Amino acid sequence: MALALRRATVEDAARVADLAARTFTETFGHLYPREDLDAFLAQAYAVERQRTILAHPDYAVWLLDADGEAVGHVAAGPCGLPHADVGGDDGEIKRLYLLRGWQGAGHGARMMATAMDWLLRGGPRTLWVGVWSENLGAQRFYARHGFGKVGEYLFPVGETRDLEFILRRPAVQA
Ligand SMILES: CC(C)(COP(=O)(O)OP(=O)(O)OC[C@H]1O[C@@H](n2cnc3c(N)ncnc32)[C@H](O)[C@@H]1OP(=O)(O)O)[C@@H](O)C(=O)NCCC(=O)NCCS
Repeated sequence: MALALRRATVEDAARVADLAARTFTETFGHLYPREDLDAFLAQAYAVERQRTILAHPDYAVWLLDADGEAVGHVAAGPCGLPHADVGGDDGEIKRLYLLRGWQGAGHGARMMATAMDWLLRGGPRTLWVGVWSENLGAQRFYARHGFGKVGEYLFPVGETRDLEFILRRPAVQA
């Protein structure tokens, strides 16, 4: 199976929106009432919003294609997490998702390396990521990439509020 990781373009907006909604629903959909989930998906993964992100030079999205079908995506950009220490130049891994059948085979590590290389292309930079407090697998994954917990916040999904951990990777590793 030929797996290609490629930078998404504005023409991929609908593909990114569809995959983002599918992977979020597959991973977290059971946690929310249907109306909260639908409200979140409609707002966060609207095609027009993906188009704006894909056209913006400070953001980048990659799609993992398996024989032409998108099975994973990772998004990076300026840090928007609510933490007092976030600096204006800091970067963030905004989304990192694989469809279930594609997890646990190293594709996430490849996607993470690509996004981090892009975020760090101009030199050392503090990186951040937000992760659900109970997503222990992803927390282990991020810890292996140098991220440690420095805060928490409540992430709105419709009317539901999820406890999210804020993880940071210092610009210069100890
Ligand atoms: C998190 C994720 C991108 C990692 O990619 P991956 O290709 O599965 O991971 P790799 O094979 O490169 O590395 C394996 C590690 O990933 C993590 N992992 C594996 N399966 C996972 C899963 N279903 N959910 C969360 N993390 C997982 C674990 O830390 C695992 O290491 P372990 O053997 O110590 O448990 C991927 O598992 C995924 O899409 N999970 C569901 C969505 C998600 O939780 N995204 C993160 C939101 S913040």
